[in-house]
Amino acid sequence: MTDKIIFEKIILATHNQGKIREFSRLFAPLGVEIIASHTLNLEEPEETGSSFSDNALLKARAACKSTGLPALADDSGLAVTALNGAPGIYSARWAEQQDGQKDFIKAMTKLHDALADSPDRSAAFVAVLALVTPERQEHLFEGRAEGEIIWPPRGDQGFGYDPVFVPHGDTKTFAEMSATEKQIFSHRAKAFNALREALFI
Ligand code: IMP
Repeated sequence: MTDKIIFEKIILATHNQGKIREFSRLFAPLGVEIIASHTLNLEEPEETGSSFSDNALLKARAACKSTGLPALADDSGLAVTALNGAPGIYSARWAEQQDGQKDFIKAMTKLHDALADSPDRSAAFVAVLALVTPERQEHLFEGRAEGEIIWPPRGDQGFGYDPVFVPHGDTKTFAEMSATEKQIFSHRAKAFNALREALFI
């Protein structure tokens, strides 16, 4: 059995406000203080990995090295079956504009255009969490949310591709759900639950 570790503070290696909101909510009952890396002006390393795990690890390692604190990173994305898993690790990059800002209407439209009249609308959100400690322990946890891509987009909660994703077991998109409802299905919440069971309770 894994030894359980007590963390008082964890650096969350992301500048994504949607992820910061969701992790703050998930960690609150554990009494762990989440410090988002952008509040310390930590740069985000370039995501040069070829998998969610590679990218999650490189982000967590960089944040742990710069701060000397345990660091958690999430690499996540939407894997669409009819597109052979795209946009996958490129989910955020599909939304990038020339000025560096992200436009998810553009990314969702690109997804819709790529799917064209394909009858297979199945997709999964995938999240891989990497937790790296100053003692050089590295832990990886994965969560998946299976569902369907719909069009047109619906809802204004959440972030990213939430308005075009309906999880199996519901009729609402992630963007039509409250944060509590999304947590029931969410890839990030499932990966977090695996982390909590392995390391915290
Ligand atoms: P990255 O992990 O920083 O490379 O970015 C992941 C990208 O995947 C986000 O910018 C979103 O585009 C997408 N994504 C990941 N999780 C979610 C989610 O829960 N809802 C909607 N989009 C998500």
